[in-house]
Amino acid sequence: MFETLPQPKLDGIIALMQAFADDPRMGKIDLGVGVYRDEAGRTPVMQAVKKAESHIVATQESKTYLSLAGDVAFLDAMEGLLLGGAVPNARVAAVGTPGGTTAVRQIAELIRRAHADATIWISAQTWPNHAPLIAAAGMKSRPYRYQDATTGMLDRDGMFADIAQAAAGDVVLLHGCCHNPTGIDLSVQDWADMGAALERTGAVPFVDMAYQGFGEGLNADAGGLRHLAARLPEVLVAASCSKNFGLYRERVGLAMAIVPEPDKAKLAGALAGLNRQNFAFPPDHGGRVVSTILNDVTLKHVWQTELEEMRTRVSGNRHALAAALRDETGSDRFDVIEQQQGMFSLLPVTPEQVECLRADHGIYMLWDGRTNMAGLNSQTVPVLAQAIAQITA
Ligand SMILES: Cc1ncc(COP(=O)(O)O)c(C=O)c1O
Repeated sequence: MFETLPQPKLDGIIALMQAFADDPRMGKIDLGVGVYRDEAGRTPVMQAVKKAESHIVATQESKTYLSLAGDVAFLDAMEGLLLGGAVPNARVAAVGTPGGTTAVRQIAELIRRAHADATIWISAQTWPNHAPLIAAAGMKSRPYRYQDATTGMLDRDGMFADIAQAAAGDVVLLHGCCHNPTGIDLSVQDWADMGAALERTGAVPFVDMAYQGFGEGLNADAGGLRHLAARLPEVLVAASCSKNFGLYRERVGLAMAIVPEPDKAKLAGALAGLNRQNFAFPPDHGGRVVSTILNDVTLKHVWQTELEEMRTRVSGNRHALAAALRDETGSDRFDVIEQQQGMFSLLPVTPEQVECLRADHGIYMLWDGRTNMAGLNSQTVPVLAQAIAQITA
């Protein structure tokens, strides 16, 4: 029966992870996979997580099934973290999902059930899994312009011109903060203008929040989402706790629909029904870690301090790399790296130059130049800057 089974095209990130693992060279540098690393290159379990886990192990009395939506304490705590009271709970339907990936998939399926003809607009540069997830859910996607190739900054006019073409009932996927892969975030004014543009077109925003706390801080990073939630009748959200709680392999995420109050029960039922069909109950352990942290003043403080350290380290790497590239190349064309934020930037290198970095220098990044700023440290920043100066000379 499997003779003609097509093999899935390996996701570029997964293929790169494999190639890096197979590379025997000492001193190879992994700037591909999107995980946070400390100065020593580790992705440690956060102290707040360790403490919460100890508490859970000591006190948990049952692991019997919960509801299809998952743990209510997790959902409530995440609603607070994401929305900060911007809308009443009576407008919010949410379910736990295995990671942010599944949240994106579930929301895409929700859209198909509600409006199968809708187009989901995605930024021209985006997380490589967005388009495949949307297609797998049976929906079509269409790009809107995002990064200006010349300046490396936001192509604001292009973006708004494209979004103006969205039809009522279409969906516009926006990165809540720390845009992956460009690191270009919308300003407060851009979010306000986005709200107005969506009001004019009747398109619904779908905010993917995978890096809250890595940009400017927990509240500032959610500012755009909160603005849209307070302004528009319908907002969809996919959230991930992989990065900001370091819970990658525990698979902690959340799918949310913010709707007018009379629609809440319908949406809660639809999201729970999707969970039932795809995996039934969301994993519990990681979500319980998150709610334990967020509901305990001391643990929350420990977590916020650790997250702030991670945020500061990544931003420090950005400044160090921009300065090193300025020195090595004698050009200011890499300065935008300092204005971008979050884990990623797209370095202005060609796929051939990316291959040269891998083959000749043992430096791994995605083919489009996506570089994990958290993968750098004080030793590797000059190595990367020299290699880039060489290949772009
Ligand atoms: C933009 C974006 N959305 C969603 C995710 C999904 O994260 P996870 O499924 O690991 O929670 C990621 C992970 O890299 C991401 O970058």
